[in-house]
Amino acid sequence: MPPLAAALMKLSQDYEYSWHTPGHTGGTAFLKSTVGRIFFDYFGENLLRSDLSISVGALGSLLDHTGPIGAHERYAARVFGAHRTYCVTNGTSMSNRVIFMAAVARDQIALCDRNCHKSIEHSLVMTGGIPTYLVPLRNRYGIIGPIPPARLTPEALRAAIAANPLVRAGIDTRPVHSIITNSTYDGLCYNARRVEELLDPTVDRIHFDEAWYAYARFNPLYRDRHAMHGDPAGHTGPTVFATHSTHKLLAALSQASLLHIRDGRSPIPHARFNESYMMHASTSPLYTIIVSNDITAAMMDGPGGPALTRESIDEAVAFRQTMGRVHSELSRQGDWFFRTWNADEVTDRQTGRRVRFEDASPEQLATDPECWVLHPGETWHGFGDLEDGYCMLDPIKVSVVTPGVRDDGGLAERGIPATLVTAYLHQRGVEVEKTTDFTILFLFSIGITKGKWGTLLNALLELRRDYDRNARLTEVLPGLPAASPAVYGELGLRDLADRMFEQLGASRQTHWLAEAFSTLPEPVMTPNEAYQRLVRDEIEHVPLDELADRVLATSVVPYPPGIPMLMPGEATGAADGPYLSYLRALCDWDRRFPGFGHDTHGVENRDGVYVVQCLKKGAA
Ligand SMILES: Cc1ncc(COP(=O)(O)O)c(C=O)c1O
Repeated sequence: MPPLAAALMKLSQDYEYSWHTPGHTGGTAFLKSTVGRIFFDYFGENLLRSDLSISVGALGSLLDHTGPIGAHERYAARVFGAHRTYCVTNGTSMSNRVIFMAAVARDQIALCDRNCHKSIEHSLVMTGGIPTYLVPLRNRYGIIGPIPPARLTPEALRAAIAANPLVRAGIDTRPVHSIITNSTYDGLCYNARRVEELLDPTVDRIHFDEAWYAYARFNPLYRDRHAMHGDPAGHTGPTVFATHSTHKLLAALSQASLLHIRDGRSPIPHARFNESYMMHASTSPLYTIIVSNDITAAMMDGPGGPALTRESIDEAVAFRQTMGRVHSELSRQGDWFFRTWNADEVTDRQTGRRVRFEDASPEQLATDPECWVLHPGETWHGFGDLEDGYCMLDPIKVSVVTPGVRDDGGLAERGIPATLVTAYLHQRGVEVEKTTDFTILFLFSIGITKGKWGTLLNALLELRRDYDRNARLTEVLPGLPAASPAVYGELGLRDLADRMFEQLGASRQTHWLAEAFSTLPEPVMTPNEAYQRLVRDEIEHVPLDELADRVLATSVVPYPPGIPMLMPGEATGAADGPYLSYLRALCDWDRRFPGFGHDTHGVENRDGVYVVQCLKKGAA
């Protein structure tokens, strides 16, 4: 047993009477009421007996990092390859904010991946830092790619800072922090050594947000493609941070996160760092979450990590190859099927010959990064002439591509919008991770089984049959006609796919998405300044039709991809510019297809009218 889990299990078995908080005192309070007993019986005695107060000295302190909790953090640091590790109980959202609060002061510049989580926006609001954004690539499906090396060179970064209107006279132009999202949601991971080499001359601190990527150290396929690569003892250069949502793709409980540090240039000593940590942590953390981090570290320690990660990779490879074989077979018969997003061909390492992906050796696909690297100029990835080896697709993040987009980026004659596929799968009990216009993401995390992906494959084959026979929606998606009979009552599955596809073409939704996320809006003030005005209520609610050339009080984050399109303090641009055109396309879609509405944070849908919080004109 790892250190904290062992101490907690022993203590919760040993103690007889609890006189401290939590007030349920080991679960006994629940036994005094019927509803409480139902709760007690459902979750079980162990969970409640181990819900202890921070005043139980035997377990140490999360805020002081002492005792068995301190031992857990040192253990996790060893397993994950850090100099020191902090156990975090409010997700990687908190880990990111802790790092920013410790590293960036008001009016200091932070280089921020524009493909960043909302917690980075919150970090900027809280610190008063000035963001200079690093813009990643996008491909024809709207998948966000890496920030190309040319945008990370000292010259490019100097130019980006010089062009930033927020960097006014008197502001120190040397950035104090940088943050890169690794891997991206869709599983694109950087060569972290190369990123460090590029950023090294410009900035002393590099923060890799690896919320979705905590397993990378444990499989050689990802060698050098994660922040805590290689031996921590040999670390030189910038100070490196990594933040891991251990609950996302490892086995910890929700809210568990680990924050890892390798000290290099401009290190932040523990005492200073911990001030920020304590500001974000509760004084009453749930031990179950902390212990789940301890257990997760133990699962990855020794042979466990390589074995468990290899299993996920093997299953993902098997699914991708099976999909490829079905696709090839059906194409040969002039028929159609879904594809997975990966190379069409790889180089066989025995013969040196090119082979089709589905015919490649599964052993090679599971062990050879060359099969997953984005090689320059390859059509499949759509990121053009990217530096060879700079970026790799993680096999366990599987995007299924639905028909509709040509290789040149234009729309095909016919297509099946992914949202319809997701609805169909949902009807059959298959829940997906993320849906874009033409891709659906499936995560092959630890715990994946052949049965699970076999069910998915069968559902996709059934969908193909139902699409081809234009099965009535009343039969295959009965909830839609039941809720909106006038819209869906008479339609078949293919009719609806056609209507949706026609709408995507007419509104150019996919085009505007790519435009909106590959250009930067004009920043008028920092996120912190915009937030100050929000708190003072110097804002108004503005409908989409009147939104041109306004300054936003909050960010606008369309889901997916869940990445800010507009940040607080940024200008919305012209009515026919990319940001408002994209919002208009989403709004028109929502009106036309009830039940398929978009979820855009920062946008309120008032009976079909999008409304956004803007700064009052005089205030801006
Ligand atoms: C890139 C990235 N960073 C951070 C987070 C926040 O992680 P958590 O949910 O653990 O707070 C997410 C969540 O989706 C994320 O995608």
